[in-house]
Amino acid sequence: MALRRILHYPEPLLAQRSVSVEYIDEQLISVVADMVDTMYAAPGVGLAAPQIGVLKRVIIIDCGSKEEPELIRAVNPQIIDSHGECNEEEGCLSVPDYYACVKRKSWIKVRYQNMQGKWIEQECEGLLAIAFQHEIDHLDGKLFVDRLSSLKKGMFRKKYKQIQEQQREQL
Ligand code: NI
Repeated sequence: MALRRILHYPEPLLAQRSVSVEYIDEQLISVVADMVDTMYAAPGVGLAAPQIGVLKRVIIIDCGSKEEPELIRAVNPQIIDSHGECNEEEGCLSVPDYYACVKRKSWIKVRYQNMQGKWIEQECEGLLAIAFQHEIDHLDGKLFVDRLSSLKKGMFRKKYKQIQEQQREQL
């Protein structure tokens, strides 16, 4: 297990579509173990494989607490049903120090394989529903800032440039 470097916007790999996982082999198990270490160290509530440069359809999520973690490792996740709308503030480990409200479905049903390859269906709402949608977006090469209106996206680009310049000055 090891910490991996998290890719930051505008890294082109983050805009690519990830491929389905065919075999849950040792290599994939090791990637997922690294993702878990990397997410908890960040810390974050979710991480998708492309964020560490692995273009495979795997995500991890933990919307639990420090005392009671609820780690989900989801291979080939798909949203198979959804309803309702919400508009909550989101952030992303690949877009450091930037937060914005994003419109999402408030309830979803997801289908994914666990690390043993067994298909699981899960209904979720609240933060967990948002996390699944956010992480599955990563697998389609989409960041939460891609879901902002064009006006807000323009504001994001300007602000993000400033954030990146500040980070460079601190180095
Ligand atoms: Ni993200």
